[in-house]
Amino acid sequence: MPFDHKHLLGIEFLPKKDILTILDTAESFVEISTREVKKVPILRGKTIINLFFEPSTRTRSSFELAAKRLSADIINFNRQFSSVVKGETLKDTVLNLESMQSDALIIRHNCPGVPHYISTFCRSHVINAGDGAHEHPTQALLDAFTIRQQKKKLEGLKILIVGDILHSRVARSNIFLLSKMGAEIACVGPPALLPEEFKEFGIACDYDLDRAIQGADVIMMLRIQSERQQKNLFPSLREYKDIFSLTPKRFRRAKRNAIIMHPGPINRGVEISADLADSAKSVILRQVENGIAVRMAVLYLLLGGKERETTD
Ligand code: CP
Repeated sequence: MPFDHKHLLGIEFLPKKDILTILDTAESFVEISTREVKKVPILRGKTIINLFFEPSTRTRSSFELAAKRLSADIINFNRQFSSVVKGETLKDTVLNLESMQSDALIIRHNCPGVPHYISTFCRSHVINAGDGAHEHPTQALLDAFTIRQQKKKLEGLKILIVGDILHSRVARSNIFLLSKMGAEIACVGPPALLPEEFKEFGIACDYDLDRAIQGADVIMMLRIQSERQQKNLFPSLREYKDIFSLTPKRFRRAKRNAIIMHPGPINRGVEISADLADSAKSVILRQVENGIAVRMAVLYLLLGGKERETTD
């Protein structure tokens, strides 16, 4: 199926058929990471720049490995050691890096809309790797890929998202994606972190995890995003844990074959018990593993789609 997009800025306006194209393409890339030589020449000669203005362990490394497995050249911009600290603007930073003939810019920024802004003046493909509390499209894609791998479908599944929904770009992108795919989504969290407006997305909102978890196929835990909170939005961490932490006792209320997900980084013993995070029910590391194939698919579809048959 043709993929006719210059940028990947979010899931909200990405049609279902294009989401499926990315997921299906990612299936074909999984095998490359199992080879002795984990490399194909599909994006040989392309230059990609990871522009992360916020910390990252998973997304940045995953994009870097995805690019390298497709034989692209990739460099990592490090804000702390860049001229941004001398006052260079975002626009000048991007224009200067792009003048080195980049083909794609992968952007993470704490300000919502920055990847969209950059896409208005640059020539390269732009991929949103997380913009503030707005969207994290490749995380939602790898989450959907992992759910489909485990459950063989997305439609009709009961998916529960738990925690700091308000500040979570992962929750927003997942809500957009999974609702397009026909999943039944419910969100649970403290009232101040789960505002009523979220009901406008057509999801069920609950404040009682013990009730909402019943019958869930997938439980997606989120961390408290203290870096985005301006004030205390729940009384204390101990109370949060008592009410919203995923413990073995609570997990037994979900479906027998339910899976546990988390985009990371996890806070062991806060939103999830360490035992559950490490249990066979957890697909947290599988999500990270799948992130490479999904990001390979995104890079391939945006930058090199037509060449695969002749170069693979
Ligand atoms: N899931 C995720 O975005 O993790 P990082 O912040 O480590 O990239």
